[in-house]
Amino acid sequence: MTQLTVSTAAPAAAKVDALVVAAYRGADGPIAADLAFEAAVAAAQLAGATGKPGSVTTIPGAGLVAADRIVVVGVGATPDSDSAADASTHHENLRKAAGAASRAVAGHAKVVSTLGEIGLSAAAEGHLLGAYVFDSYKKPTPPPVEAIVLAVGSAAKAAKDAVARAVITAEAVAFARDLINSAPNDLPPAVFADRAAAAGKAAGLTVEVLDEKALAKAGYGGILGVGSGSSRPPRLVRVSYTPVKPRAKVALVGKGITFDSGGLSIKPAAKMDQMTSDMSGAAAVVATVLAAARLRLPIAVTATAALAENLPSGSAYRPGDVLRHYGGTTAKGVGTGNGKTVHVLNTDAEGRLVLADAIVRACEDNPDYLLETSTLTGAQIVALGNRTMGVMGTPALRDRVAELARQVGEGGWAMPLPEHLREGLDSPLADLQNIAGSPGGGMLVAGHYLSEFVDEGVSWAHLDVAGPAFNDAQSYGYTASGGTGVPVRTLLAVLADIAGTP
Ligand code: BES
Ligand code: MN
Ligand code: ZN
Repeated sequence: MTQLTVSTAAPAAAKVDALVVAAYRGADGPIAADLAFEAAVAAAQLAGATGKPGSVTTIPGAGLVAADRIVVVGVGATPDSDSAADASTHHENLRKAAGAASRAVAGHAKVVSTLGEIGLSAAAEGHLLGAYVFDSYKKPTPPPVEAIVLAVGSAAKAAKDAVARAVITAEAVAFARDLINSAPNDLPPAVFADRAAAAGKAAGLTVEVLDEKALAKAGYGGILGVGSGSSRPPRLVRVSYTPVKPRAKVALVGKGITFDSGGLSIKPAAKMDQMTSDMSGAAAVVATVLAAARLRLPIAVTATAALAENLPSGSAYRPGDVLRHYGGTTAKGVGTGNGKTVHVLNTDAEGRLVLADAIVRACEDNPDYLLETSTLTGAQIVALGNRTMGVMGTPALRDRVAELARQVGEGGWAMPLPEHLREGLDSPLADLQNIAGSPGGGMLVAGHYLSEFVDEGVSWAHLDVAGPAFNDAQSYGYTASGGTGVPVRTLLAVLADIAGTP
């Protein structure tokens, strides 16, 4: 990963490959955010710079600064308002500008950025996330920029702490992106489990992995059913961080379908390859607990990842099968068999089946809050598109999560769980069926299904990130093609909010 440091040295005097400066979008053209670079921005204007958010204009540094070149990035409107909504727009513009600048300086060794003068955390995050590349299968040309130095007015502890937090956050996002971008042949459930366990143990956290035998013994019928079509068996992974005297206990639950073919209710061929990203929720919750520990948040966090591969085969679960969800274990550690039963009407509605088991298990720890995230429904994309997650759950937490998602620039909107949609999941044969009888509101129906498994009294939220988790188009701002890492930054913001820390 690109190295990020801070320096109080004068940026104009830095003999580096490139100097990054910001331009606001004024009525009569770009306006230098730092008056020291007015001449540079004026020169960039002749080369087409406008200040439009995310736009990048590169000009020679000769005669203006000591750096070889100046990269002028647009950061949009000037911050002339103090409303909270504007503040988050400005931060997001800055993050995107920093990300675009990082991509524009790929191939260089050392770059100084002045974007931290506008907002240190956002600039740091944007630069690191924008520099991210996934290189397991081929090396990018040019390679990502090696080192970025953020110019700061003072190297006070607060500044250093803010940058350190941004680095931890960006590394968590990169951890999730790396898992998502791994091809499905390289990331069966057992390999995901190994990678999560290795990272958890390296961070000094408690790790528990249930293999297919342990899952069968404890009665995880949803996870086993979904995983039954694959020769590569399912797993349940739990990674726990417990500080001394935690202020609250939070359960994170993630969908980890390492590949979703739909199973016997098979998907169409077009874009099926993108179902390599159907473990984005699991990747996000594991990344989040690792970061929570590194940030030493004063709350207990356990990530539970439900991992299975959904394939058709002679051993696959069928439409028509009845599965029994996990329902707790007896003193002997044997499944009681009193979990809820589900009539499977469509094997492509598999996420809710693995998640229900994981949610029941997570609730056994008596959490104060439960945050579940998944690439759960195509209906999320129909309703909100690719850059806004749908958030459902108990109203207060739901609204808080959606607001924080918008603040961190991941995009989120609160969605209702209308009572009448719950009835669609009533089954004449079992406690539930996994799809509704009538169409419409698919994202909300899935939310209802999950809500059946959350313990009474637990504040919970379901973040459907089917669209936002994966960018199947070109890079933009700080978002590369492929896995985006959404909703890692939202989850971290919620945890920090619960913990009452910055
Ligand atoms: N993993 C998919 C949802 C999805 C679709 C994620 C597109 C990302 C992009 C999920 O398992 C699924 O197949 N959902 C079905 C549910 C339906 C059968 C009720 C869907 O949305 O079509
Ligand atoms: Mn599916
Ligand atoms: Zn799926």
